Amino acid sequence: MAELTALEDGSAVRRWIKHRVTPRQLVWLRCVTRGFPWPRWGNLRRTRPFSDNFGFERGTPVDRFYLHRFLDQHRHLITGRVLEIQLPGYTNRYGHDLTATDSVDIAAGTYAGLTYLTDLAQSDQVIPDASYDCFLLPNTLCVMRDIEGCLRQALRVVKPGGVILATSAALVPLTGDSPDYWHLSAAGWRELAARAWPGCEVRVEQHGNCLTATAAMLGLVLEELSPSELEYDDPRFPVLVTLYCRRPE
Ligand SMILES: C[S@@+](CC[C@H](N)C(=O)[O-])C[C@H]1O[C@@H](n2cnc3c(N)ncnc32)[C@H](O)[C@@H]1O
Repeated sequence: MAELTALEDGSAVRRWIKHRVTPRQLVWLRCVTRGFPWPRWGNLRRTRPFSDNFGFERGTPVDRFYLHRFLDQHRHLITGRVLEIQLPGYTNRYGHDLTATDSVDIAAGTYAGLTYLTDLAQSDQVIPDASYDCFLLPNTLCVMRDIEGCLRQALRVVKPGGVILATSAALVPLTGDSPDYWHLSAAGWRELAARAWPGCEVRVEQHGNCLTATAAMLGLVLEELSPSELEYDDPRFPVLVTLYCRRPE
């Protein structure tokens, strides 16, 4: 009788239920009674991703959708003397009227034609000042240990009026085999850019949503998503951050 009386009060009902169901059943009850969607995990309920290598063996990693679109939008700037981190792969793919296709890397071995073997942050005596129209740093900033030093040097080596086009991973897995330091949001990169590139025209954007971030985390690839799923941006789920910097004339 006392139990029935308590049930007439809503909060008492909730307390009565809470003591009789498991936490998981309680969430299910909330979903049913309040109309929240109930997930069907299928084979997404896993603690290991589908790929340990960003999905490269399946197709094209999700973040490359945003990288390729960014480079495509700035094709007109990838011209003349172009420097790229690691190898001139994107220079050759997106560039035009190229007079130099140089590369820089802290480590030897990945590309036989490497132009400068140096830590970009310590490159004062290695890469000449104001010598490039464009510097490409695709998916690289997050792995540069002295990030402010690297950003300052990147600006030093571009000509007045030249550009830096860079992208950095946010909600994607860490590299794993080497240190991965700076998975920042656009707001974080804006802070660093303001310190390292004062007086420059800077545009920082971020792209992604909870689906593309989940796909990237699980090692699924862009071919498994639709264009509208890839193009939808939710500012809380950046997958890739893009940075454009133009050095003043
Ligand atoms: C993840 S790869 C990114 C570029 C690659 N082409 C891509 O499309 O993903 C990062 C490259 O930056 C190089 N790197 C990391 N820190 C560097 C530094 N401080 N100076 C110069 N190169 C650096 C690494 O050795 C590596 O070859």
